[in-house]
Order: sequence, then structure tokens, then C-alpha cells
Amino acid sequence: MFTKRGICVVMITGFFVFCLTIFHLDENHEQNSLLSSIGIYDRYSSVRSKLSFRRQYTGSTQDSSCVVLFSAPQKCAGRTIYELVEYISNLTRSAVTRDSIMNIDSVWPPNVSAADIVPRIVRERVHTSQPLDFIYTHLSFVEFGNDSLSPSYVSIVRDPFERARSFYYFKRYGDTMQMTEDAKLWRQRMEKMNLSKDSYDDCVMSQRLECVGERSQFELIRHFCGYSEECYRKPETVLEIAKRNIENHYAIVGITEEFDDFLSCLEVLFPVHFNNASKFYNTETFKKIVYSTRTKIKLPASSATKNIMLPKLKYEYELYYFIKQRFYDFKEKILNEKRKIAPYRP
Ligand SMILES: *[C@@H]1O[C@H](CO)[C@@H](O)[C@H](O)[C@H]1NC(C)=O
Ligand SMILES: *[C@@H]1O[C@H](CO)[C@@H](O)[C@H](O)[C@H]1NC(C)=O
Ligand SMILES: *[C@@H]1O[C@H](CO)[C@@H](O)[C@H](O)[C@H]1NC(C)=O
Ligand SMILES: *[C@@H]1O[C@H](CO)[C@@H](O)[C@H](O)[C@H]1NC(C)=O
Ligand SMILES: *[C@@H]1O[C@H](CO)[C@@H](O)[C@H](O)[C@H]1NC(C)=O
Repeated sequence: MFTKRGICVVMITGFFVFCLTIFHLDENHEQNSLLSSIGIYDRYSSVRSKLSFRRQYTGSTQDSSCVVLFSAPQKCAGRTIYELVEYISNLTRSAVTRDSIMNIDSVWPPNVSAADIVPRIVRERVHTSQPLDFIYTHLSFVEFGNDSLSPSYVSIVRDPFERARSFYYFKRYGDTMQMTEDAKLWRQRMEKMNLSKDSYDDCVMSQRLECVGERSQFELIRHFCGYSEECYRKPETVLEIAKRNIENHYAIVGITEEFDDFLSCLEVLFPVHFNNASKFYNTETFKKIVYSTRTKIKLPASSATKNIMLPKLKYEYELYYFIKQRFYDFKEKILNEKRKIAPYRP
């Protein structure tokens, strides 16, 4: 398939592109054998064929990218990943196209359930006529099936208690980032909710639903389960579906606590989107960008609060440890192999 593609490109655009294509051959070959060794060869090669299909379908001439659907729960450093993809694309002029799906309220018709509207919105964005290479969202899992245009799923999670605490303060105080349109809408929504200035401890101690209710107890398992009705039923079932979705669909799910290693893995799995990601991540310029996504105010939690919350977050932790174990397994294989692969050069 790649040889055929190579020949085509030569005929159309001549020697210069031919050289690039040859390079990509080797690149893809090494990439595929690595992925094969860690058992995700099939999904990656299907992404590759998807790509050429996508090119035909959209008339895009853009090469060497694939759609990454990066869907992470809030406050897990997902925004940092998104900013990094943009930063790398700016610096390397790789023209990786990216966008986020944040506020969907404006396109949400009244009386339509999330199960109906969200998959439709996500599918529209993935199958857009403007090819996108990277989509960032907090929306939950949406199944694409096996069609040739379906994306590669990537996500990141964080210790559930820490995430809940961070999210609580984020809702009140936001981050230090400049107010984008999305952020303004978010602020307005939060103000309407008349949030108190209580600490997270106060909130948990007074048993307020915001902190101890269903939503906060099942955030993670629902995220990876999706929008079907069964994702709002017994947590045991939701947890099982979430695990199955991760196994069957996700190229990788990182953990915030191992952010640097996650980046190294992404560099190997998606060498175009994450070209030299660790290097760029550690530059002073990028550190400043990251700083702006930190939650402004965040108070430590008491051990009494922890004692109340940890049992409530039982299913969240079970999924978190499942993801962590899977991440360690992948990481070991990917990083062991990494040294054998030449860095990606565009
Ligand atoms: C990337 O470039 C665009 C356009 O110049 C700019 O608005 C944006 O802030 C840049 N993003 C990053 C993360 O540097
Ligand atoms: C939405 O559903 C409620 C209750 O079923 C109904 O009273 C209301 O008129 C509906 N609104 C619209 C815009 O259809
Ligand atoms: C995708 O394809 C695999 C192998 O062909 C099959 O086992 C699986 O059920 C398919 N999944 C969907 C959602 O169609
Ligand atoms: C919002 O909260 C303040 C203080 O907590 C209270 O005085 C006020 O009545 C509340 N407003 C609404 C609409 O609930
Ligand atoms: C990526 O890093 C390698 C090794 O440090 C370097 O040779 C290459 O030029 C870098 N690529 C870009 C686009 O900066």
C-alpha cells in the first residue's frame, strides 16, 4: 500500500516529495513493528489506511497524520497536552490541525438527551470536511465502530480524590488563563449556580451533593462508559463497560502523576502530533503556558475529608488502578523500544 502511494506521489509531485515518501516508508515500518510488539499494530495500521482513505475522501494532500480523539475528564492536565500539540505544530510548522469541543450547550436542542446529541456532535467533528488531526474534549466516550474514518482514542486520568478536589476549586476560581470565549461561558454558568466560597472540606463535611453526590462519585467510570442508559445504572456495570471500552478502543490512557513518561509514549505512538514533545514541554516558553492552566486557589484537604471520600470513590479508584496498570505495561514496552527508533524528522 505504501509503495503504491509512493509511486503515485512521485508521478504527481516529483523528486522532492519522493524523498520524503521514502523516508516515511522506513518510519512507518519501524513504527509498525514497534506497535506490533506491544499488540496494537492492528489499530495503528488501520489508522494508516484510514488516512489514505481520508485523503481521498476529503481531497486533503496532508500526509503523515491521523485523527486523535483526546477525550479527558476535567483537571487531569488535558489542556496542557492540547496546548503542547498546538505549540509543537506552531514551531515545527507541521500543520497538525486541531480543535476542541468544549461548550456544546449552544448547539444542544431542548429536550434532546446527551445520548442523542453528543455522539452526533463528536462524529460531525471527526468526519468534518476540514481534516482535523487532533480533537480535544471533556465529553465522555463515543463509540465509532470500525469504519475507516474512526479516530484513535487517547486519554489521561488522575488520582480520583485529587481530581475531585481540584475540580471543586477550579469551578470557583478558574485558572490563570486569559478569558477565552469558552472560559467566559463557563464562568457565567458557574455564577448562575451561585457557588459558595466554602472550602472542599466544608462541602464534604456538610454532605453537599456537589461533593458527595452521584455525579462526583462516578465521574471517571461514566466518562469511559459513555452516554448509553446503562452508564447511569449500577456502578459495577458501568465500571465493567468502562474497562472494556478502554481495552477495546484506547491506544493509550496516561496518568497525570506520570506526565513525562506519558509524553514520551505519545511521542512514539503519534510521532507527528508529538514530535519532540518532551523537549518542547521542558522549554521555558512552554512552562509559562502550562502555568496559566493551573487552578488559581486550591486548599489542602483534611484527613477527615479523605476518610469520607475514599470509600465513596471506590469504583473510581478501581478504574484508576486498572488504567495505571495498563499504562505501566504499555510504558515499559514502548520506552524499551523507543531507543531503537530514530527520532521523527519531518
Ligand atoms: C500558535 O500560533 C497561533 C497563531 O500564531 C497563536 O495564536 C497561538 O497562541 C500559538 N499557540 C501556542 C501554544 O504557542
Ligand atoms: C420539553 O419537555 C417538557 C416535558 O416533557 C415539555 O413540557 C416541554 O414543552 C418540552 N419543551 C420543548 C421545547 O419541546
Ligand atoms: C470491529 O472489528 C473486529 C474485528 O474485525 C470485531 O471483532 C469487532 O466486533 C468490531 N467492532 C465493531 C464495533 O464493529
Ligand atoms: C446565593 O448565595 C448567597 C450567599 O451564599 C445567598 O445570600 C443568595 O440568596 C443566593 N442566591 C440564590 C439565587 O440562591
Ligand atoms: C527533534 O529532536 C532531535 C534530537 O534532539 C533533533 O535532531 C530534531 O531536529 C528535532 N526536531 C525538531 C523539529 O525540532
